[in-house]
This record gives sequence, C-alpha cells and structure tokens, in this order.
Amino acid sequence: MCGIVGYVGSQSALDVVMAGLKRLEYRGYDSAGVAVLADGGLAAAKKAGKLVNLEKALVEGPLPTGSTGVGHTRWATHGGPTDGNAHPHLDNAGRVAVVHNGIIENFAVLRAELAERGHELTSETDTEVVAHLLAEEFSATGDLAEAMRLVCRRLEGAFTLVAVHADAPDLVVGARRNSPLVVGVGEGEAFLASDVAAFIAHTRSAIELGQDQVVELRRDGVTVTGFDGRPAEVRSYHVDWDASAAEKGGYDYFMLKEIAEQPKAVADTLLGRIDPSGSLTLDEVRISPQELREVDKVVIVACGTAFHAGLIAKYAIEHWTRMPCEVELASEFRYRDPILDGRSLVIAISQSGETMDTLMALRHAREQGSKVLAICNTNGSTIPRESDAVLYTHAGPEVAVASTKAFLTQLVACYLVALYLGQVRGTKWGDEIQAVIRDLSRISEEVDRVLETMEPVRALARTLAAKDTVLFLGRHVGYPVALEGALKLKELAYMHAEGFAAGELKHGPIALIEEDLPVVVVVPSPRGRSVLHDKIVSNIQEIRARGARTIVIAEEGDEAVVPYADHLIRIPATPTLLQPLVATVPLQVFACELATARGNEVDQPRNLAKSVTVE
Ligand code: F6R
Repeated sequence: MCGIVGYVGSQSALDVVMAGLKRLEYRGYDSAGVAVLADGGLAAAKKAGKLVNLEKALVEGPLPTGSTGVGHTRWATHGGPTDGNAHPHLDNAGRVAVVHNGIIENFAVLRAELAERGHELTSETDTEVVAHLLAEEFSATGDLAEAMRLVCRRLEGAFTLVAVHADAPDLVVGARRNSPLVVGVGEGEAFLASDVAAFIAHTRSAIELGQDQVVELRRDGVTVTGFDGRPAEVRSYHVDWDASAAEKGGYDYFMLKEIAEQPKAVADTLLGRIDPSGSLTLDEVRISPQELREVDKVVIVACGTAFHAGLIAKYAIEHWTRMPCEVELASEFRYRDPILDGRSLVIAISQSGETMDTLMALRHAREQGSKVLAICNTNGSTIPRESDAVLYTHAGPEVAVASTKAFLTQLVACYLVALYLGQVRGTKWGDEIQAVIRDLSRISEEVDRVLETMEPVRALARTLAAKDTVLFLGRHVGYPVALEGALKLKELAYMHAEGFAAGELKHGPIALIEEDLPVVVVVPSPRGRSVLHDKIVSNIQEIRARGARTIVIAEEGDEAVVPYADHLIRIPATPTLLQPLVATVPLQVFACELATARGNEVDQPRNLAKSVTVE
C-alpha cells in the first residue's frame, strides 16, 4: 500500500524517482507526487490519479534538476485521492518534504497540538503532521536524522517515512515501523524504496531495515540507527532477480505475463527441495524435528488468494499427516481469542510478506508460544523475518495486483510443507513422499498444456462481458478453487461472482439460478473418490434443469460430464489433491479476459493495492 522511493547520487533524482514509482505503481495508484532538492531549495509536484497525470503535470511545469529526491504513489487511507492529499507533504515554509506509507494513529492529537502552535495544515491526511513536526525538530537540532528519530518516537501506528530537507542537501532520511522499506546501495548513490523493484535497474545490492530504525542515505554511504539513536546492525543481501523480471516482456499486462510464467514458477519452487538422501528440505527452519513431532494441530492464517491456498493446504495436511488443520482469515484471527499453545504450528501464507493482517496474526500466535512457519514470495520481508521457519516460493516478482503465479507456488509450498510434516512425523513413507514429488514435478508441464488451450476460454469470456453475475461451484479441493475463481472475477471484472461448495447450493444459493446464468463448475477427478464426482455431476444437472448455462472444468477423459456441459474446459488428469494447480489456471485466464472485454484496468483494478500494509 503506497509506494515510496528516495534517491541521492549523481543522476537526475526526478528521473530515478519517476522510474521507481512506475515500478511501484502496483502498490497504490490514486495519486502520485515527487520532491527534489535543487538550487538550495525544495521543489515538489503532485497530482491525483495515476502516475501518468503527474508525468503530464511535470511536462507542463518542469521541476529544477537536482540529485536528491523522494516520490510517492498513493493508496488513500486518510483523505480522498485529491491533489492536496497526495504526497509529498511539506511544512509551511516549504523546506521539508515527507512521503509516508501506513497509518499514524495519533495524528488527530498531534494535529491539534500543531494547530495550537500556529501551524496551518491544509490536507486531510495523517501524514502532513509529520512534515510539520520534522520542520520543528530540524530547526531545534539542525540534524534531519535526529529530527526523524524524535518525531518517530512520538508516532503511534505503522509507518514508513522518507524525508528530505532543503537545508540538508545530499541527504535522504527514512524510518520504518511495521511497514516495508529497503535500501539499495550503488556506486556513489543510494536508494530507498518500498520494494527492491524500484531500484533493481541500478543496483542489486540491498540492505534490510529492521523495525524502529532510521536510515540516512548519502552518496558515499548509509547509516542506520534505532529510534533511540543507537547504531544498528546492518544486514545486506543480494537481490537474485534482475530488472527484466519486473518488466512486461511483450505482454499487454503484467497479469498475462505472470499467468504465462506459472510453469516456470511452479518448477522453480520445487527446485532443490530434495536432498541426495531423498529427504525434503525447507529454506530456513528454526523449528526442530522434535518440536514438529510434538505439534498437535496446524493453523493456517492468510488473506485473499493466499487464504484460498491455505484452504487447499488443509486437505493435504490432514490427509498426509492425520493432524487437524484449521484455516483462518488473518484479519479475524487474533480477535476471536484462538486456542493456541506451544504445540500449535501456525503457517502464515503471504506473497508480499508485508500484509498487516497476516503479520499481526503471526505475532499473536508467537505471543501464545506457537511456532510460526511462513510461506512467502518476498525475500527479506517482514513476515518471514518474524517467523521461526520459512519456505520461499520462487515465483519471482508479482506485479499485477491480482495474484496468479504466487497462488500456484503457494500451493506447491503448502504441499511441500504437508509432506515435510509427514516425513518428520513419520506419517508418510519416503517412497510415498517421492511419488508425490514426482507428481508435482510433472505439474509444470501440465500447466503449460493448459495455457496452450486457453483460446476457447478467452472467447467464452468475451461473450459474457455483459452479464451481471457468474457463480462458481466446486467440491473438496475444487471448492477453494471456486472461491478463487470468484475472487479473481470480482476484483478484475467488478462483477457479482460467488463461489460455493456445490453441496451447499441446495441449502439456499440455488435460488440464484435463473435462465442463462453462467455457472462455472470445477469437477473432481472421477479416478479419485468417485462418489465426489458423481455428486457433482448431479449438482450440474440440478442447476441446468433450472436454466443455468454450465461451464464445466473437467479432466481429460471424463466423459460423464459431457451431456451436461454447455461449455467444456478440459484440464490434464492429475492426482486428486493436486488438481487445483491446473484447475485454477482457466479461471485466471477467464477473469483476465472478461475484465479486458469490460474495458477494465487488468493490472490495477479499482480500489485495490498489491501489498496491504494496513489492518
Ligand atoms: C487477490 C490478491 C489478494 C492477496 C491478499 C494477500 O488476487 O492478490 O487477495 O492474495 O491481499 O496478499 P499477500 O499474499 O501479499 O499476503
């Protein structure tokens, strides 16, 4: 939520910051702004709407050239998406500029104090108070980093702040609490950003910032201190993907590119998981095998698409480990006083590793003495750093707001965790584990095959562009797939879409069925538990008898569904538990095409942001 960039060096700060913002626009796109230090002063521009509006404004009113600057692309929390609420925010003298991600919870009190001292605040944001407080502290101390530390100690909430001051040339100061901020270190230049994507074209050398730390960026180096002023340990790392991974690569949308990257993402996530002795290994496991043997239940916490991955994981974990597994929306978790102790293993699934709801859920779990294992796609992000164990998904950067390749790799990671638990606890034999790994290894090719046959799905989606509602049905692991299909359609096509367990339909939702209503049905393999398959075939007949237009996703060779399918989408035959890896793909393509047909912005759906860093 909100993208932040800071730069100091010898290039044009405006060029570097604008290019960085372009890469971070997925984090929020309802307004954008920049500020540069130049000619002993500070110049800023900001505009409501997408970055392109700011680009136009900068053509009409260019800023002076400077080599120190900050920029921001916003997802509004306090105050609507207007020019005035856009960041950066300046103090009354226009000497300090600050950009912010997060929420400052005590801003109303601070604002009232500032008003009493004669400050005039002009926006509706929580951020503007920081600009004024920084100006006050800077005039008292003459030190921007010290001013930032003093201000941060007074702030409540979650925030990343980045500031420049006209009287502190060649310096950018950042601070972070519960909100992402990474440092990039180049030759004679340094960068600050919410995500490495913003500076990966310049350097792959990065520094993780810890909680409650302030960083000073100068051309010749970076200094990190705690909010208390004590020097902090600096943890550097190398970013293992390059700038081209964050480009569209010839596709019209990032989402299309990311859908197409799924075979590789799935294969990469499996790479190196089996050691020469045939045993599974995870990335960073600070939970001993003995502790894992003592676990008596698994609790999965996640949001949105990652939550759907968790729902599917439950089937695998319970089946392969015979341990109970609960799956909970992270935003609900800590508020219901969940029953947790040292014998509960909590799995937090998150693409970004920064989702605040999931982070708060994992902190709650750790406070109760539970161990937390993170499944995450973003190296060095907060969720894996605060967890006891991590399994990274190797999806590469996911830029489109709607999650696709991250979901498939989360599924692979969940299957690996389930097998790992089975291995450690002895509920799965080595040869059984290896058989599943062999099945998983074939999935990459199967996903490729699905992708090759998507033209009829796209054509069908285009014919449905004028519909108001699409329903999705599934059973067993097909039920979370149905939920995911509906979520994709809601967020991209802005249509009423709902996923149901097919068996639940007769308990109410069947009343929604009317003439020509499109209903997508995910059919389980007839080779798995045939009773499941037979039941869903009956469900298809029930809705068809009531006028539904049935869009049936069924494995190759399943002839029983043919008479009842108005449209048939074939997927390769896979083992029952692994079917979501292939069944989800047509639903992603379907939603993407329907959104395009309705003229929607596929990569940046309205009201959303990629990384949700507020609760
Ligand atoms: C939907 C989508 C979201 C995310 C959710 C969690 O397409 O992308 O529902 O899955 O916001 O995000 P992460 O995985 O970053 O925690």
